Amino acid sequence: MSTLVMLLVFAINAERTLGMSDPDYCKNLDHQSAEIVTPLSKEKRTVPCLGGWLIFQRRVFGNVSFQRNWEEYKTGFGEINGDFWLGLESLFEITHTWPMLLRIKMESWSGKTGEATFSKFEIMTEKDKYKLIKADNVTLRHLTMSAFGGHFGLDFSTNSPCAQKYTGGWWWGNCYHTNLNSRFPMDDERSRNCKKCMNWNYFDGEHPLKYSEMAIHRK
Ligand SMILES: *[C@@H]1O[C@H](CO)[C@@H](O)[C@H](O)[C@H]1NC(C)=O
Ligand SMILES: *[C@@H]1O[C@H](CO)[C@@H](O)[C@H](O)[C@H]1NC(C)=O
Repeated sequence: MSTLVMLLVFAINAERTLGMSDPDYCKNLDHQSAEIVTPLSKEKRTVPCLGGWLIFQRRVFGNVSFQRNWEEYKTGFGEINGDFWLGLESLFEITHTWPMLLRIKMESWSGKTGEATFSKFEIMTEKDKYKLIKADNVTLRHLTMSAFGGHFGLDFSTNSPCAQKYTGGWWWGNCYHTNLNSRFPMDDERSRNCKKCMNWNYFDGEHPLKYSEMAIHRK
């Protein structure tokens, strides 16, 4: 091999090790966050981690508004240790480059918890409206319905009629089976049905959720 070719091979391998070769972003189980380099645009991001999973959506305190425009849903908003949205562009890059599991956890105001894990999670490019690609093999824990599955094949939108009616950017259909980016419930909405608050159909009736978390993990 000529020196030039060897240098080239070395350069390509070095590139791989810089954030490309290790999709196990939150591998340090004790860490609450990790510094990552997104696989395509090489953007440096600090992401929340929990038990080895990378959290890309979380509603916990209710003090960060999720009524945001396209650009904000694209680039992300919120707080690493609190209510957070990673951003669709990073989510596209990661899920497009590496096979990822998706885990959604939720809790109701009456203290019930539920969990859904999908064996594959991928979204398309911005040009394709970050469409949610179909995945199968959902595992449910304390849930009767894989509500998120009802959103496969749908485009993300922040200003469609459903987005305007129920608020928040989401893979809105007609309109939802779950709407985890909708409004965080106010005190007086917590013990009654609130279709415009974040919820998961048939989990605790149509009562709004107290907590939601969407996380990815390398397959
Ligand atoms: C939201 O509430 C948490 C917990 O009280 C706090 O740590 C955080 O700073 C708050 N964030 C905002 C944006 O007010
Ligand atoms: C779903 O499970 C079946 C059977 O275990 C397996 O063959 C298939 O590859 C899985 N699909 C995905 C997307 O993981």
